[in-house]
Amino acid sequence: MTFDTTRMRIGGLEFANNLALAPMAGISDPPFRDLCARLGAGITPSEMVSADVGLWKSRKSTARLRRWGEHTISIVQIVGYDPDMLAAAARRAQSLGAAAIDINLGCPAKKVCRRLAGSALLRDPGLVAQIFGRIVSAVSVPVTAKIRTGWSPDLRNGVAIAQLAQDRGIAALTVHGRTRACKFAGHAEYETIRQIKQAVAIPVIANGDIDSAQKARAVLEYTGADGVMIGRAARGRPWIFTAMQNYLADNAAPQTDLPLSCVRDIILEHLDSLYSFYGETTGVRVSRKHLAWYALHQEGGRVFRDRVMTVETAREQLALTREFFDQPAREAEAVRERSWGERSGETDNEKTIHQAKKTKENGGNGPCHERQGPAAQHTH
Ligand SMILES: Cc1cc2nc3c(=O)[nH]c(=O)nc-3n(C[C@H](O)[C@H](O)[C@H](O)COP(=O)(O)O)c2cc1C
Repeated sequence: MTFDTTRMRIGGLEFANNLALAPMAGISDPPFRDLCARLGAGITPSEMVSADVGLWKSRKSTARLRRWGEHTISIVQIVGYDPDMLAAAARRAQSLGAAAIDINLGCPAKKVCRRLAGSALLRDPGLVAQIFGRIVSAVSVPVTAKIRTGWSPDLRNGVAIAQLAQDRGIAALTVHGRTRACKFAGHAEYETIRQIKQAVAIPVIANGDIDSAQKARAVLEYTGADGVMIGRAARGRPWIFTAMQNYLADNAAPQTDLPLSCVRDIILEHLDSLYSFYGETTGVRVSRKHLAWYALHQEGGRVFRDRVMTVETAREQLALTREFFDQPAREAEAVRERSWGERSGETDNEKTIHQAKKTKENGGNGPCHERQGPAAQHTH
């Protein structure tokens, strides 16, 4: 069975495909979203921002709301509990350019739930109905919601919440196959997602523990969902979207690991983007966790990680990264570098940055970027 991964419609928007990068606070920032989009993620919502727009001037929220790159349709995710505040925040996000608004009813964090926001709202369907209704009538862009399967295994009311969402004009739903009480423990279950998909006509995106192209296919088949959302499995492996797209659309053999030279090019591109987005000091700091994830499954990764955590400049970080990801591929790279031609005046580092930039300028059409989704289109 092949899946049509070419386009996905939500409200008046058409997305490049049905593969979504999960919003992950502190991880799926604009540079990471842009990178994943270039590698095949069709839907890339922002990390959550508070419904209290007074906080949007903070450095954190400003970064989360900033537009970056050309490959993503801007979806702003908002978390809150007060229908009027949420509606005002949605309006503000739209005026700042959001093409869609996503409401977070999935976050189990205490900081959020103590105030009956995030997944705590699932306990109060009446309030959820008000929130959905108020936001949908406040904006002209599509409004989507991200939910869990319920508050707890005893109160698995995901189907009722989904129906209520549809009735109130929500354009699509993402469902994380855990209850709020489960937090991140145990395995995600897909039965409730299947029931939700059967109960509503709006697009449903399945989420939770999807970490390979084969798993994506199995979840799509079992739940009948319209799309899948990938979170933790994309950390240090943003090319998972390319593999999924190829596998789902073409039944191509599931891709194993990428050649190390491709991994290196992608990482250097990512670092370059982080430095440009945050400036060098913060960029180096933010890059550390991504480098740790990139190195996780590499031989000698721990030593590299310990070393790269200590450096403070982009120059040192790039040099260590290049050195580490070049090591096993040195022979092959030597041949490839010679074939690049006569960039003799440049240092290795400059060549790499140049190559990363060239790849970016070409829309990522290098050997490491095969088969990305076509650029997303706005039809709204
Ligand atoms: C570090 C971290 C931050 C997260 N931040 C958000 C968030 O801002 N908004 C949201 O809806 N979900 C958030 N989530 C939940 C993910 O979007 C996703 O639902 C969850 O990780 C399950 O998917 P996965 O198994 O593919 O990781 C976060 C998850 C993690 C691990």
